[in-house]
Amino acid sequence: MERTDRTALCPGTFDPVTYGHLDIIRRASVMFDEVIVSVVNLPWRKGKTLFSAEQRVTFLQNATEELGNVRIATFSNLLVEFAREQGAIAVVKGLRAISDFEYELEMHQLNRRQAPEIESVYLMSSPKYSFISSSGVKELATFGGEIGDLVPDEVAEQLKERLGR
Ligand code: PNS
Repeated sequence: MERTDRTALCPGTFDPVTYGHLDIIRRASVMFDEVIVSVVNLPWRKGKTLFSAEQRVTFLQNATEELGNVRIATFSNLLVEFAREQGAIAVVKGLRAISDFEYELEMHQLNRRQAPEIESVYLMSSPKYSFISSSGVKELATFGGEIGDLVPDEVAEQLKERLGR
């Protein structure tokens, strides 16, 4: 049987990356030959991001450097178009709670309508990370909360510098 490399995308805004994202990326990297962490680069989408696309990519590169089959890219077109351009067969996302499910179900249906050949794969968040969100981490950083166990060190430092009061 002919064997082809199986590539998956792990897409998101990653503003900034958290240990919850990194857990999903690591687990996806075990399941697929190549994982492309795909960073949304649309300044006007969902309001302005705290970190530039370049900064979000750098955080991800530093945090995944020991994962040999993971690379980081940005995209600003439809997710499924980007998946086709990259030859990806799947999109992998994490699910934390029922609240994620509703949003992800909608995204899944939109994506499937556009590209039925690209499968969506959902990994349940590890309990340890099931409460972490980028927005929650930013909120904590703004008010001086402890974030050292939620994001990589350089991200925590940058958050404190940018948001700390
Ligand atoms: O969780 P996020 O950061 O909102 O996820 C972003 C993304 C692109 C994975 C999600 O919005 C999605 O699946 N969108 C499908 C529709 C699409 O392709 N939009 C264009 C985004 S550049």
